[in-house]
Order: sequence, then C-alpha cells, then structure tokens
Amino acid sequence: MKLFIDSANLEEIKTAASWGILDGCTTNPTLAAKNGVTDFLSIAKQILSLVPGPVSLEVLSQDYAGMTREGIALAKLGKNAVVKLPTTIEGLKACRALTNKKISVNMTLVFSALQALLVAKAGATYVSPFVGRLDDAGHDGNEVVQEIIEIYDNYGFKTKILYASVRSPLHVKQAALMGCDIATCPFSVLEKLVQHPLTDTGLSKFLSDWKKSGLKPLV
Ligand code: G3P
Repeated sequence: MKLFIDSANLEEIKTAASWGILDGCTTNPTLAAKNGVTDFLSIAKQILSLVPGPVSLEVLSQDYAGMTREGIALAKLGKNAVVKLPTTIEGLKACRALTNKKISVNMTLVFSALQALLVAKAGATYVSPFVGRLDDAGHDGNEVVQEIIEIYDNYGFKTKILYASVRSPLHVKQAALMGCDIATCPFSVLEKLVQHPLTDTGLSKFLSDWKKSGLKPLV
C-alpha cells in the first residue's frame, strides 16, 4: 500500500519525504488555510518538487467550466500533479473532461459506495472515501470502503482507492488489511506508525548492555 501525507505544510512534507517511505501527498483548501497559505500555486509547485509521487491539488470552482479551467492550470504545474475535484455532478463532468485530456483526477469528499461507482465511471484515477468523517458521524467508514472494493472488483474498475480522512494508525492498518491502494495520513499519524513502546525499551536495554560490556564501536 502506498502512503501519502495529507498536508500543505512544507516542513512536514520535507520531513516525511526524508524518511524514505513517502509515496505522495494530498492537500485541500482547509489544509492550505491552516498553514496560512495565500498563494496556493507557489506552495503547490514547492510540494510537487519535494514529493516523489502524485500530489493532489484541489480546485476552488464549483461549476464544470471553472473546475476544468483550474484543473488544466493545476496539471501544468508538474508531471506529478493530480487534480482534486469534489464529487458533485459538476465534478463528474469535469472529471470526464480532464481524464479525456489524460490529466489524473482524484475525486474527493466521497461518503458512499454509489458515489465511488459514479467517479469510477467518470474515469477518475483515484477515489477518496473520507473514512474518519464517516466514523465521526456515527457511520462505519471502513464498511463503505469494503463496499467500494467489492464493486470495483466486480467490474474491474481501475480507479485507485485512496483511504482518506485518516484519524489513527488503526485506520492505516485497516486500509492495508482491506487492500486499499493508498492511505493518506496527517503527519502526526505517519509519526505514530513507527512507534512502539517495546521498541523503545528494547533499544534502551541494548544500549545499556552494550555500554556495560565495554564493546568497541563498530566503525
Ligand atoms: O485530504 C482529505 C482528507 O484526508 C481530510 O481529512 O481529517 O479533514 O477529515 P479530515
């Protein structure tokens, strides 16, 4: 499974990229606003050069013509740019128009298996079910993802499943167990994936035993 960072913070993205496990990035207007971004195009260009893989950049227009125009402009920012569109009728139309031009599209704000069916039919490259927000609303986000997997398998849709709105390491494990193509995680979750208290206590013991033994350094 590929791991993306869900962030518009350059420091976070740079740090996660330095770990050698980062496959891509997703951004959205909320994440940009949270980081005080006013010139999104300039930040987007920097993210595209930092990340060794696809970077989803969201349009702001809500009508087909505006989304398509913005999508074409965003796609020109870099070879790894992916245009992120909301899952509405206008979004579906823009998705078809952009994918017909061979531009990669990530359909966002997906909360149901039927929405996922439609975005696959519109040729989306990625579908982003928002698992955490479904869970927050008292639904079972993973159940929706499981349904999407089943429907895509039934018909051989090529749209990649991008597990989004990740709240915890458990979500990442569940995404991997279900066979999702990608999970996009906040930086705080990426950090937690490597942590285990037994690793920390085990390492302290190795180091204290080593010091006691008087062994020489390896190099
Ligand atoms: O990037 C889209 C998605 O991951 C947003 O997550 O935490 O705002 O529900 P969240």
